[in-house]
Amino acid sequence: NMEDFDVFPNTGFLPNELPLSKLPQDYYQPWENLVNNLPSLILTKRIRKLVEKLPVLSTEYLNSEPEYRRAYQILGFLGHGYIWGTDEPINKLPEQLGKPWIEVADHLGLPPIATYAGLCLWNFKQIIPSDNIWDLDNLTTINTFTGSIDESWFYLVSVYFEYTGSFTLKVGMDALKAAYENNDAKLIENLQNLAESIDHLGSVMMKMEEMCDPHVFYFRIRPFLAGWKNMADLGLDKDGIIYGNETKPRNYSGGSNAQSSLIQFLDILLDVKHYPTGERPAPHQPVTEDSKSESSFMDIQRKYMPGQHHDFLDKLQKASRIRDYVLEHGESNPDLILSYDACLAMLKSFRDKHIQIVTRYIILQAKNKVKMGSTSTMRSGLAKLKKQGQEEKGTGGTSLLPFLKQCRDETGDPAAGNW
Ligand code: HEM
Ligand code: ALA
Repeated sequence: NMEDFDVFPNTGFLPNELPLSKLPQDYYQPWENLVNNLPSLILTKRIRKLVEKLPVLSTEYLNSEPEYRRAYQILGFLGHGYIWGTDEPINKLPEQLGKPWIEVADHLGLPPIATYAGLCLWNFKQIIPSDNIWDLDNLTTINTFTGSIDESWFYLVSVYFEYTGSFTLKVGMDALKAAYENNDAKLIENLQNLAESIDHLGSVMMKMEEMCDPHVFYFRIRPFLAGWKNMADLGLDKDGIIYGNETKPRNYSGGSNAQSSLIQFLDILLDVKHYPTGERPAPHQPVTEDSKSESSFMDIQRKYMPGQHHDFLDKLQKASRIRDYVLEHGESNPDLILSYDACLAMLKSFRDKHIQIVTRYIILQAKNKVKMGSTSTMRSGLAKLKKQGQEEKGTGGTSLLPFLKQCRDETGDPAAGNW
């Protein structure tokens, strides 16, 4: 039962009710006050001082999952604002952030860092109160670093994406069921619907360009999304950041849509395997379970999903059966192969479109920076510290294009190729 894993037929990996946009307890208002003024506090470079003046608040007054999620979200915005929100990044979080952040993150099965869950899945609210939660035109974000429409849009596109993806999830699960029931006709129909819905997901992703300007994204928004892992060239310690009174640093990757459970759901369902960058086995070389290292970036990103979603995917992985079924029965029923391969082709085309976006929003912008020869339009430590010619990395710390192209190529091997 999907609902046991906090996955819903009508909303997928989004909560099936509006997230809490404000902690109700007076006790937590010092957090609310800072996070709701975050753009101004970053602009005036006062965020660090004000965080340091906060009391160390206890998490014992949080009473429900929505309250824990709101707390996690607040601490994510304040934590990244604190580290990246002035000219020089800093290697230590004060106890006021470190202690409660670890506690709420542990409760939710997430790492104490800004994740897709805190930035997107739980970061939307209605513009005008209405009974229809899912009127997408009536949604906006709860918090941002910059206060810009571009940043809100960047997160909201993912909300739309996940909402659209609830249909993908439904037909995907129906396809899996059909494989268990040995029902070829039902499997083919669901795979055809699945292929179409993956194509639709690509169109939703391309909505990014409607209201998120690549320059604003690259220079103003993106620097705040970075984590601590692989960010030594930006002035952080290579071992990460000290949380409050802890003695050892913690190292985590920053926010990335690689943390979307929906995309990993598709990879698992269709049996697409990912390998560490640069370690992909040659095509058609037999792959055994132990030749697949468990440490690909995509595997690691699963730990950055809410605990229940992570469990859902692990369980699905054990039950995944569609590709094997298609390989076993495809010879007598080529439509099985056609419909399965259509899904792979659409997922691959989705990854192609994503690479186009990354080219426009990151690669070309990085070139612009060199042309401008000045860092004056960059607001935060991260963007300023990056020197000319230094390798671009994703906010998740990956090598960007080599990583993304390999992910795309791994989506390749069609079942048809096996005959
Ligand atoms: C991964 C950039 C929007 C889905 C990545 C990575 C980068 C990136 C650099 C590599 C991981 C890292 O180090 O962070 C961007 C940019 C975007 C954008 C610049 C828009 C301005 C989206 C959207 C989606 C998406 C809207 C879908 C909702 C993914 C997925 C991965 C990924 C699924 C994991 C790699 C894969 O499965 O192929 N993105 N992304 N991205 N992104 Fe995006
Ligand atoms: N992961 C995206 C980036 O690297 C947000 O810019």
